[in-house]
Amino acid sequence: MDIHVVAPLASPAERSAVDAVLDPEIGPPVSGWRGGARTTADGHAARGGHEARGRRDLLLPALHAVQERIGWISQPALGYICRRLTVPPAEAYGVATFYAMFATRERPPIVAHVCDDIACRLSGAEETCAELERTIGPAGTPAATADGTASTWLRSPCLGLCERAPAALFTVAGETPRAFEAAPVDAIGIAARLRGASRARGPEADVRAIVPQAGDPALRLLARVGRIDPTSLAAYRASGGYEGLARALEIGPVATIEEVTASRLLGRGGAAFPTGRKWAAVASQPAQPHYLVCNADESEPGTFKDRVLLEHDPFAVIEGMTIEAFATGASRGYLYLRAEYPLAATRVAAAIAAARSAGLLGPDVAGSGFAFDIELRRGAGAYICGEETALFESIEGGRGEPRNKPPFPVEVGLFGRPTAINNVETLVNVPLILRDGAAAFAAVGTEGSSGPKLFCLSGHVARPGVYEVPFGTTLRELLDIAGGAPGGRTIRVILLGGAAGTFIGPEALDTPLTFEGTRAIGAALGSGVVMVFDETDDLVGTLRRIAAFFRDESCGQCVPCRVGTVRQEELLARLAAGRPRGSTADEVGLLREIGQAMRDASICGLGQTASSAIESALRVGVVTV
Ligand SMILES: Cc1cc2nc3c(=O)[nH]c(=O)nc-3n(C[C@H](O)[C@H](O)[C@H](O)COP(=O)(O)O)c2cc1C
Ligand code: SF4
Ligand code: FES
Repeated sequence: MDIHVVAPLASPAERSAVDAVLDPEIGPPVSGWRGGARTTADGHAARGGHEARGRRDLLLPALHAVQERIGWISQPALGYICRRLTVPPAEAYGVATFYAMFATRERPPIVAHVCDDIACRLSGAEETCAELERTIGPAGTPAATADGTASTWLRSPCLGLCERAPAALFTVAGETPRAFEAAPVDAIGIAARLRGASRARGPEADVRAIVPQAGDPALRLLARVGRIDPTSLAAYRASGGYEGLARALEIGPVATIEEVTASRLLGRGGAAFPTGRKWAAVASQPAQPHYLVCNADESEPGTFKDRVLLEHDPFAVIEGMTIEAFATGASRGYLYLRAEYPLAATRVAAAIAAARSAGLLGPDVAGSGFAFDIELRRGAGAYICGEETALFESIEGGRGEPRNKPPFPVEVGLFGRPTAINNVETLVNVPLILRDGAAAFAAVGTEGSSGPKLFCLSGHVARPGVYEVPFGTTLRELLDIAGGAPGGRTIRVILLGGAAGTFIGPEALDTPLTFEGTRAIGAALGSGVVMVFDETDDLVGTLRRIAAFFRDESCGQCVPCRVGTVRQEELLARLAAGRPRGSTADEVGLLREIGQAMRDASICGLGQTASSAIESALRVGVVTV
């Protein structure tokens, strides 16, 4: 007996959104089984489908296409994607529901994603959300706009705009979908944009509000920010761009890796792994092909340095990737960008296209005979996808669930092949190393932490933004460059490294900002977050927000992390309400036990660091509960 599942068909708009992504890659549907019109030739059994099944990596782009066209992903639309890619519907549903920016229940096409994360809280995000609740209704309530289109607002974790907090991201679904940010913004501004008063992107923020040092001739990583047109390849080349690649092509892959190793460059994505060693490991793998990934997922609350590089110096990221591909023997690279960065996506896509038309990407890079190209892939709202193996799963069309290691990505990475993955800032250092030489690079900074470093300053500091200083600069010196605490207030505590980082007190202000210096005081540089809190800030509320962040973002694979992040949040709520279970000391002991269990038995860094900021706040005594 044939079983026919009768379900409503995907609408023409849903189908055309999916087709626009899939047809150029796998061709139009060849039978009714694959989503085309049914004919008698289709028969009673599905045959073939292997090619489409081999392109499971197109699942996220197809989901994005429907989300952006309609504003949510209906069951028929999901079913259509499944037929076209030969993906079991249960699996596709599991993927669609994993990512916060995909909606699988009907939702208005215009959405304001209002950041309520730690830096925005310091600038009144909770008050903004309360005002929106009062004027529009609870988060998710549909509201009518001037032209009759429905809109709504939702709370969001950090949008990577902390230097201009409080921030919101607007997504507008339709035939020409748009996304744009507004920062700083208040409830009136959000409501006005939702009503349709101003749905277009406003003027771009003044670069000085993002990089207060812009224009300083001593800058290296930020040298081009605010000085050259980031959309112009000619301007990039005139400012020394592509000299690093020219040198790499001249000296060859082995010497290129030697140069990067001699520079002592350590990865800037948080783990501080030696970049040269990673490249050498990939280059030596016999398995082919080799892949390259640029990690631009930047979702650690308080981090926005990679966004600034991608928006203001996109060619430097592409040049860094091209050098890395040449050195490690990769002919294909993926730049995985968080979905919350629409301007960066536009700039990077344009830069890739410009480099390709100039012959700096493609089958014969710069006439050298070496082939390399880059594909831009977008995340969909999942912090865990910054973890390298979760990121591979996401590109491959799965839930962003980290893999057990070993094997490490250098052996078994993207699509099961040797893969070199590096952070955006790491890659922007690479052209400098090749152009100026390893010795010049290593002369900056310290023995253990060479080169310049970007820091993301936010919270109660006079001039928030991205700052570049040599490694070894003390925290006090960095804060002085940023103008210190505003209006004569006193610094009470600093969060180093983001939600996964550590709180330190003012007594640690003379700590040199290096990997080794922060390690010595039991902290970590992480992704370069320096968030400043003064005596007026609600630190217990901040800790509860951090706990809620990890509870939301845990992928749920490991029990200690899945349960521990929930228990940690509940415990903080009890303490904040003054209703400890047993004594406060019992609760603090339990918190430490939960943290230890997560550190010992979680398979990835999320679970291993989910309690570190909270435990450190108790340790330095700035939060007494
Ligand atoms: C939960 C979690 C989130 C992460 N997020 C990022 C991220 O957003 N960007 C990044 O470059 N690295 C992130 N990492 C680190 C990556 O796993 C990886 O170490 C890094 O991309 C390697 O590049 P690097 O050697 O250039 O630092 C994250 C790690 C964990 C455990
Ligand atoms: S530690 Fe947490 S986030 Fe990492 S794999 Fe386990 S459950 Fe997922
Ligand atoms: S943009 Fe709101 S905390 Fe970063």
